[in-house]
Amino acid sequence: MIQVNNLRPLTGEGRRLFIETYGCQMNVGDSEIVVSIMQKEGYIYTENIEEADIILINTCSIRDNAEQRIWGRLADMRRLRKRKPTLLIGIIGCMAERLQGKLTEGELAVDIVAGPDTYRDLPRLVREADGGGKGINTLLSQEETYAEIAPVRLDKNGVSAYIAIMRGCNNFCSYCVVPYTRGRERSREASTIIAEARSLFENGYREVTLLGQNVNSYRTGDVDFPSLLKAVAEISPLLRVRFATSHPKDMSDKLLEVMASMPNICRAIHLPAQSGSSVMLERMNRKYTREWYLDRVAAIRRYMPDCAITTDLIAGFTGETEEDHKLTLSLMEEVGYEFAFMFKYSERPGTFAQRNLGDDIPEDIKTARLTEIINLQNKLSEASNKRDVGKEFEVLVEGTSKRSEEQLFGRTSQNKVVVFDRGNHTVGDYVRCRITGCSSATLFGEEIK
Ligand code: SAH
Ligand code: SF4
Ligand code: F3S
Repeated sequence: MIQVNNLRPLTGEGRRLFIETYGCQMNVGDSEIVVSIMQKEGYIYTENIEEADIILINTCSIRDNAEQRIWGRLADMRRLRKRKPTLLIGIIGCMAERLQGKLTEGELAVDIVAGPDTYRDLPRLVREADGGGKGINTLLSQEETYAEIAPVRLDKNGVSAYIAIMRGCNNFCSYCVVPYTRGRERSREASTIIAEARSLFENGYREVTLLGQNVNSYRTGDVDFPSLLKAVAEISPLLRVRFATSHPKDMSDKLLEVMASMPNICRAIHLPAQSGSSVMLERMNRKYTREWYLDRVAAIRRYMPDCAITTDLIAGFTGETEEDHKLTLSLMEEVGYEFAFMFKYSERPGTFAQRNLGDDIPEDIKTARLTEIINLQNKLSEASNKRDVGKEFEVLVEGTSKRSEEQLFGRTSQNKVVVFDRGNHTVGDYVRCRITGCSSATLFGEEIK
């Protein structure tokens, strides 16, 4: 029997762990930390749910439909347990934090509930469940950053990886559940971030994405986000560095200067606007106006004319008039976003908006507004792709194209996907391509020899 120390045997001992991940990139990174913690306890990670002894679902609460999907999956997994009564099922992540003990009641009851700051406690929670009880821990922490845990990379393209640089959020946008499910904002020690990026580079990775809900407010001691970004980019000119997400209120010229000074910091900024109406922005507690936002866009263009700008938008937030909605459409035109994530407002229990503002836009109007936003964005994305035809880009190869073995795909610094003939290239190479054509979602290129 494998022992951690002389006191107790490992709980894992060859038991197979399956983990399914929903939600944002933070959750993807967290699942990699969970696998690392569980492997140390002797668990074996499996991608085959049929052979699992423990299933963990890493969940998202951002919108109601995100939670509904997870309930559906949970029902499927309960059926698996009919065939294998010893199977343990756990809910971890944001929904665990939001619903806590309620998840261990009723028809879809689970055995383990672990909030985002409690993953070190998972082995103990499994032991509780093994004993026939329920393993529940949803304490939020002021300090936990999992700084020294080496994530087990699950995506396996071996080229790009996420690095969480902070956790939690202090912004309390009035519609958003994240400050409640993830707790207070805290930054991870810079030296551990740089060491992780360096080790990824030494293991063949060529791109890292620094992650946080609002990376612009990263700070440990006298290291702020621009200096952290610079330090990571200095590891090697062959290491591309991206980051997400930037809150417009904190997007500084200092950050743009650092980006402009280092070509391996990617020319892509995700700058969620949410709305183009200052009245809505105020009600959303975003702490900036339309004018401030456009000023930040102008600054980006000034420092880096070739920088892609992408965004998140919410349609039908409470109190949104037709005029407010038109302002969102005009903001989109004015910025000319390369890409956008677009959502219908979904009221979340416990948020400021749910407690104080109501949800007064009828579903059919939300749907109509969202459709208009999506149609406009499709046009903008296509126009942006067309502008790229004839230009040259350096493409970092990520894999073989889905359509043909003979073609590879990779990304430009602007984060656009380019498909081109394989030649003698392989995953992880940088290839200079000229863009010869495009669809609304993809650029087609040829290698410049
Ligand atoms: N921290 C990031 C976003 C995290 S959530 C930021 O502030 O930019 C990702 C996106 O989900 C948000 O940008 C917002 O557009 C959307 N979102 C959050 N709460 C929502 C809700 N209640 N209804 C609809 N969309 C929501
Ligand atoms: Fe949510 Fe706002 Fe925090 Fe983003 S910044 S996670 S939208 S509260
Ligand atoms: Fe969802 Fe939690 Fe991320 S609510 S978007 S998984 S922080």
